[in-house]
Amino acid sequence: MGLEIMEKDVEIVFQPSGRRGRVPAGTTILAAAQGMGVGIEAVCGGKGVCGKCRVIIEEGRFEKLGLVSSKAHVSGLSAVEEKFLSPEELARGYRLACLAQVRESLVVTVPEESRTAKQVILEQGRERSYRLAPAVKQYSLVLPPASLSDARDDRQRLLEALEERYGLKDLIVDYTVLRDLPLLLRKEEWQVTVTLWQGREIIRVVPGAEVSHSLGIAIDVGTTTLAAFLCDLTTGELLGKASRMNPQIGYGEDVLARISYAMTEEEGREKLQQAMLEAISVLAEEMTAKIGREALEVDEIVLVYNTAMHHFTLGLEPKHMGRSPFVPAVSVPLDIKARDLGVKINPAGNIHSLPVEAGFVGPDNVAVLIAEEPYRSNSIKLIIDIGTNGEIDLGNKDRLLSTSCATGPALEGAQIAFGMRAAPGAIERVEIDPETKEPRYKVIGEDKWYPELKVTGAQGICGSGIIDVVAELHRAGIISKAGRINGRLETPRVRKDESGKLQYVLAWAEETAIHKDIVITQGDIRAVQLAKGAIYVGARYLMEKYGCDHVDEVILAGAFGSYINKRSAMALGLFPDCDPEKVKAVGNAAGDGARLALLDVEKRREAARVARQVEFVETAVEPDFQARFMEALSIPHAKDEFPHLG
Ligand code: FES
Repeated sequence: MGLEIMEKDVEIVFQPSGRRGRVPAGTTILAAAQGMGVGIEAVCGGKGVCGKCRVIIEEGRFEKLGLVSSKAHVSGLSAVEEKFLSPEELARGYRLACLAQVRESLVVTVPEESRTAKQVILEQGRERSYRLAPAVKQYSLVLPPASLSDARDDRQRLLEALEERYGLKDLIVDYTVLRDLPLLLRKEEWQVTVTLWQGREIIRVVPGAEVSHSLGIAIDVGTTTLAAFLCDLTTGELLGKASRMNPQIGYGEDVLARISYAMTEEEGREKLQQAMLEAISVLAEEMTAKIGREALEVDEIVLVYNTAMHHFTLGLEPKHMGRSPFVPAVSVPLDIKARDLGVKINPAGNIHSLPVEAGFVGPDNVAVLIAEEPYRSNSIKLIIDIGTNGEIDLGNKDRLLSTSCATGPALEGAQIAFGMRAAPGAIERVEIDPETKEPRYKVIGEDKWYPELKVTGAQGICGSGIIDVVAELHRAGIISKAGRINGRLETPRVRKDESGKLQYVLAWAEETAIHKDIVITQGDIRAVQLAKGAIYVGARYLMEKYGCDHVDEVILAGAFGSYINKRSAMALGLFPDCDPEKVKAVGNAAGDGARLALLDVEKRREAARVARQVEFVETAVEPDFQARFMEALSIPHAKDEFPHLG
């Protein structure tokens, strides 16, 4: 009997998107949503740990949909759900999508707080100059026609003509090109345009001389978002940009959740890879369609990502890269045929992957380095790429050091009571009056600040807002240097929760879009301290290994880095003291690096060199790490001075 139930297909409709489909009975609501492209937050990757995948099971007959939906159409309540959901919520039909299994037809509402939000994505960093020398180049030529007296085969005829006209020797021809070569050569009276990759492989032959320029795409594959750039490989011109959520987010918000998904779920690794490759194909199609071209005309894609995304995208076993001693499957740069990965561009074209530095320091950091070029600088630069995993580089033309630190997702808004990613509705700026302890704040997507704006669209707080609020709580005397909330202040903003823990009310329910007080808890402050402490200690170790006691420049990279308030970040002690004039936010430097590598092969060589040369420092194994980390938890630091804070 039980078996029969498990084998039948049942209908499920998600609201408000209206997506509808059939899934086998026994599928979790989360898996059904993922299969149907409905975004549900799954911070822990569907492990029943985070409690974020809340959905509502609707009750009743839905005439328009032709369905009956009932709480009884779902598997029984688990102990975990009882822990995360209040009795009132359970009565209203709330369940955790990763635990509740579909038994019969269902209408499921994904409430606002559980939807994977639309991102504000920083697609472009700053202007950078480069040398135009792409891996893909076009050559046009006219071949001598075949005749009884010249019966060379078509391939031979083409190769000899290229050698004669352009001095190109020892070329190979991709198999997909060979298939139609006889037709292509004869279509325009033996006149063709040949596309060559790395001066050694023919990846396309097009009849005629007046053909469109080759296209290339650079993509920064972030844990949360993908930012893509379409370029004309003949002129270097940027033809378009596009971005989308990393589709793997439904399988786990952070890298570790996804590694565990890949390892524990059947075909988990394949699913993660497939989701990513499809997203890349869709980006290529979208961007080329916008300029009236086709994805098949794209001859190369350059990818940068962290080591985990590198493994997931290329389908490499991620197990050992995710645990000590953090050994990746492969570190060297890779060129993989698009057809081998199933990416829908020119099948003979290549997907170029920048090299991995070490363990968790991935191609994206290499991309940041080739964009920022600290190895050409006299002054000492400290580059902090803030993401779920922080990557830090320090050095100049003499020496370059790098480390990574587990910042955790707090600085990006996760694991914070009201944290969210930088999306419309997120509080991104905060100021607190030291006298009244009253805040002013600004929400993404709104021009005016609260309280000028009486009712805001606030739903939560994102990374830059979190940095601001903790720095401001400290400046206003609401939290101590140790990060503890002062419960003796005369303000309604500081109060205790049901369990007696102190919190600061940043926004009252009536002024928010979620009709709940948005609070900063003692736990949130602690999470920020842990994150900033990790970055600070990492930077300090690098300075010590390098032998310098101050840095000349601080560069904040990453989408998050460009929204961050530099003064708040320093007041919090995110990085060692530096002249604020010399602190720069450069935006998506990894995306810039990817673009440079697409347009200039010398940059790829530079990337391979720098990946080998950079000295990786493993800070967590230092004997005094714990003691120094504790000091760095203080705001801004237990001992270090910050003269520039004034
Ligand atoms: Fe984390 Fe369901 S509890 S995804």
